[in-house]
Amino acid sequence: MPELDEVKQAESASAAEHPFAIEKVRQDFPALSLSVHGKPLVYLDNAASTQKPLSVLDAADRCYREYYSNVHRGVHHLSQKATDAYEEARCKVQGFLGAARSEEIVFVRGATEGINLVASTFGRSRVKAGDEVLITEMEHHSNIVPWQMLCGDVGATLRVAPIDDRGEVILEEYEKLINERTRLVAMVYISNALGTINPVARMIEMAHARDVPVLVDGVQAVPHKAVDVQALNCDFFVFSGHKMFGPTGIGALYGKLDLLTSMPPYQGGGEMIRSVTFAKTDYADPPARFEAGTPNIVGAIAMGAAVDYLQGIGLQAICWYESGLLDYATEVLSAVPGVRLVGTPTHRASVVSFVIDGVHPHDAGTILDREGIAVRAGHHCAQPVMDHFGVPATVRASLALYNTRQEIDRLVSGVAKVKEIFS
Ligand code: ALA
Repeated sequence: MPELDEVKQAESASAAEHPFAIEKVRQDFPALSLSVHGKPLVYLDNAASTQKPLSVLDAADRCYREYYSNVHRGVHHLSQKATDAYEEARCKVQGFLGAARSEEIVFVRGATEGINLVASTFGRSRVKAGDEVLITEMEHHSNIVPWQMLCGDVGATLRVAPIDDRGEVILEEYEKLINERTRLVAMVYISNALGTINPVARMIEMAHARDVPVLVDGVQAVPHKAVDVQALNCDFFVFSGHKMFGPTGIGALYGKLDLLTSMPPYQGGGEMIRSVTFAKTDYADPPARFEAGTPNIVGAIAMGAAVDYLQGIGLQAICWYESGLLDYATEVLSAVPGVRLVGTPTHRASVVSFVIDGVHPHDAGTILDREGIAVRAGHHCAQPVMDHFGVPATVRASLALYNTRQEIDRLVSGVAKVKEIFS
């Protein structure tokens, strides 16, 4: 008879591998039953965009069919209903991020717009000539270019905290780069190109020790792990709906209320005002101040359904499951001769980036596609990361809660096929 402890250990190991009913989850996603080039689809391009569960598709469909109207503008029944659902979605996002108040959630087109919003409003009002903005070397272009544009326009300097050859931010260098000229730090939570999970809580503490506010790009974090913006104590946090099983064209910016309240508007138009005359406009309070024009009503509501979906499974269960899957993918891929992983950080989520000796990643991506396997091959909108590792591109398999070990095995067979063709 095994000892009780052994039974418990075995149970918890199996719970970590299957903490939810994976087959049922897969059935929730119609796209996972597609065939591509005559082969069952293996979808491993989740860092680019995820597939959508029925509950998200239904939420969008129901809104259009049953209660669609503009929001915040009508006294009539449909407008009230749509407004309630839109604001309920805001509260869902508030809960999802652990924000203190729903007014701290601004609906935007996606993480990119959230970052541009902060650069254009907070940035333009606070960053002056001679100041500095600090980012890291592993940022996505969306967390580089808006700051570069801002710095170029106002005469500030963009500083970059370097990474090491494992793909981790060198914390001592990062800390040294925060100084009395630093007006903002912007950093990615989980790298889309390497999967590195940054120690953001620690990095935020270091910035706050110098009274520097921090923006966290959480786009690759929210589908994979629980986030609590109050525990992190970040000042801004952005994510996109389409990477967490919601629709495209919608995302959220979290900002601490005192910061949002102190910021000028982003765009002018309807709904962001309190009163307008030709002489002067008074702006609405946040979040309306930053939501000019008719918003993506259905997108926000369907993103709320994606939040429900993730919470229904449980972020902790997802995190456990994916971490086992990632370990498996790392082990089997790195065992393939000629395959080299790019980025080997200690803490990593959902992404395996690799190159195959003598094969351009685009060729590998094309051959894998013929096998029904969707990966991304390219620079992943993170060219400085590619430069760091001295490669033009990588093949990136990015996992989600619906992927399985059998799919990873298909990827490994696909890689074997690539090698065979190029041998
Ligand atoms: N940012 C997306 C990616 O990593 C598009 O693929």
